[in-house]
Amino acid sequence: MNALTSLHIRNAKGQRRLAMLTAYDSGSADVIDSAGADMILIGDSLGMVVMGKTDTLSVRLEDVLHHCRAVCSSPRRALVVADLPFMSYESGPQRALESAGRLFQEGGARAVKLEGGRDVLPQVRALVQAGIPVMGHLGLTPQRMAVFGGFTVQGKNAQSAAQLVQDALALVEAGCFAVLLECVPRELAAHITRALDVPTIGIGAGPDCDGQVLVFHDAMGMMPGQQLRFVKRFAHLYPIMLEAARAYVAEVREGSFPASEHGVSMPEAEHEEFIKLYGGDAPR
Ligand code: KIV
Repeated sequence: MNALTSLHIRNAKGQRRLAMLTAYDSGSADVIDSAGADMILIGDSLGMVVMGKTDTLSVRLEDVLHHCRAVCSSPRRALVVADLPFMSYESGPQRALESAGRLFQEGGARAVKLEGGRDVLPQVRALVQAGIPVMGHLGLTPQRMAVFGGFTVQGKNAQSAAQLVQDALALVEAGCFAVLLECVPRELAAHITRALDVPTIGIGAGPDCDGQVLVFHDAMGMMPGQQLRFVKRFAHLYPIMLEAARAYVAEVREGSFPASEHGVSMPEAEHEEFIKLYGGDAPR
C-alpha cells in the first residue's frame, strides 16, 4: 500500500478527479480508505456531527488531535488532512507551527487545512517551509461565521468573487498544495479551478472543481432531518440505525437477546462439579 502524499494530490490536477471525505474514527476511516478515496479530512465539523454543537467554534486543537489519533491508528493509503481549528493559528506563524506540529507528530496527519485567504499567508509560508503541506479553505469559512453572520454562500457578487480569486492565487503562491472551496457559485469555482495550478476541492461549489469533499455523516445519511442543498446522501443509515436500536431495546426487554448462541456454556462435568460446590440449578 503506497500512501498518497500532497505531491500526488497536487499532480492529480487535470489527470483525475479527487474524492475526499471526513472521518473522525478508525472505523469510518477504514471504510473510506477501502473505498479508494484520495483524502481523509479530520474536519472541525466534528464539533457538529460528533459533539452535537451548532457550529465549529468550540472545537479545540485537543479535540482534533484526539480524532486524528483514532483515524491514524492504522496506516492509511489516503492522505490524512487535519483541520486547524478556530484560534489554533490566527495569532501568527509560530502558533500555527506549534498546532500543526502536534497534529503531525502526535496525531499522524500528513497535511493540515486552514481557513482564510491573504490574511493567513504568513502562516501558510511558515508551515510549508517547515515541511507541513497546507490545504487552503476559502468561501464559506465556518470559523468566521460570527463575522459573516451565519453559514452563507460567499462570492455571489462580482467584487467579492474577485477577492476570492485573489485569495486563491495568493494561497497557491504561498505554497498550498490544494484549495478547498466551500459554498461559492459554480461559475466562480470553475474560474478559480482554471486559474490555479493546484487542485480545487469543492463542497457546495458545483461540478467543475478538481475534486469534491463531503462530511461522512451527511454522505451516509446518518443525521436525521433536512439535508443541506449541496449534500447528496449516498446511503440512508439513520433510519436503518434507528430501526436496529429499537429492535435491540425490544429484544433485551422481552428476553430474546442474548440467545444461547450469543454466549458460552461450561463443560458438562465442570458444571456438575460447580453445582456440587455451590448448589443451585443454574440454567443450561
Ligand atoms: O470541517 C469540515 O468537515 C470541513 C468541510 C468543508 C468538509 O471543512
